[in-house]
Formats: sequence, C-alpha cells, structure tokens
Amino acid sequence: MAEDKSILKNSLFCDIDKVLFTEKQLDDIVGNVAKAITEAYAEKVLVKKEKLVILGVLNGAFQFVSDLVKKIDLPIEIEFMFASSYGSGTKSTGEVTVKVGKNPEVLEDPDTNIIIVEDIVDSGNTLSQLLSVMREKGNKSVALCALFDKPERRETDVYVDFLGARVPDEFIVGYGLDYSEKYRNLPYVGILKREIYE
Ligand code: IMP
Ligand code: MG
Repeated sequence: MAEDKSILKNSLFCDIDKVLFTEKQLDDIVGNVAKAITEAYAEKVLVKKEKLVILGVLNGAFQFVSDLVKKIDLPIEIEFMFASSYGSGTKSTGEVTVKVGKNPEVLEDPDTNIIIVEDIVDSGNTLSQLLSVMREKGNKSVALCALFDKPERRETDVYVDFLGARVPDEFIVGYGLDYSEKYRNLPYVGILKREIYE
C-alpha cells in the first residue's frame, strides 16, 4: 500500500487535459434525461400498462444506465447488450456486432417499449445499425437515448430522442467512456491528452 493515497487517486487524472463535466454536472444532466423519459412514458406505462425496457449498451453506458434508472420514476425493466464498433483505438471500424443479454425475448414483445441507452453518438454508425436490428423485432416502439453527442463527426443520420449533452470533437473518457478499456471508472468526464493515443 502506498503511504500517500493521493498519488493513486491522481494516476488517471494525469492523462486528462481538461475536465468537461464534473460529477455534479453529470448528476444534473442525467436527472434531466430521466425526467424527460419519465414524462414521455408515464401514460404508456401507468395508464396503458405497456412495458418499458431500458436497454443499455455495454460497456460504455454502464455508469449512465446505473444512475439514470434510479431517477426514472416508473416501473421499468433493465437489460443490456453489447454492440462494438471500436477496436482498441479512437476511430470507428464501421462494423457493428450485436449481442443481447439475458432476456432477448422481451425485445420481441409487441407490448414493450424499448429505449436503447448509449454512452455517445459519434459517427452514428453504431446506433443506426442497432436501431435497424431492434426495429425488426416487433416491439411497440424503439427510442434512442445517448448521454453525449458529437454532431461534428456524424456520418449516418440518427435521431436521438433523449440526449444528455453535446460535446466538442475531442476524444473524451470517464463515467463509462474508455480509451483502450481504461478510464471507465473515472467519476467525471474529461478530454484525454492527445499524447496518450497519438
Ligand atoms: P459511432 O458508431 O461512431 O457513433 O461510435 C459510437 C461508439 O464509439 C460509442 O459507443 C463509444 O464506445 C465510442 N466513442 C465514440 N467517441 C468516443 C469518445 O470520445 N470517447 C470514448 N468512446 C467514444
Ligand atoms: Mg460504446
């Protein structure tokens, strides 16, 4: 064990150029998204008794989903899926592979509304492919929710129904977002120093 624990705490922070969103700012952003979702689905879920499934895209959305569902004031189900378009670098490979978690049958239920929850929309290729896969399954509805949007990098048009915040065209990490599987555990979001990946 190191004597000075601050050394350990700062080891990831050294790779961060600038903090974009603090924990408190993220909490506010996630709260606003949850409020919008609660308002949009209240009647469907509470009056019409339709189901709502929050479908988180792993690994990037794990922190976001965890905080988001606590703030959605409705009975919901939570499921996860894997969709990867990134290797270990910072540029999309363009190929998306999809794997749904424990209860894939719930995604085929005609009484179920699905909200796909992603960490960030960049080129838009991942979400647009996910959307076409999900829309073939015969659910009541499929909506998209993303914590961040980098609109300058868009290659494929996607409409994000529930968005947290726009971010500049920089590579960001933390709060679930990774570079080469690292930095996901940061409680804030920051711009990664270019020297780390260039
Ligand atoms: P897209 O298909 O280009 O929209 O890629 C979306 C995926 O790329 C996200 O789910 C992230 O995993 C990853 N990604 C895009 N931009 C960033 C970033 O700035 N930091 C970390 N991951 C990113
Ligand atoms: Mg991702």
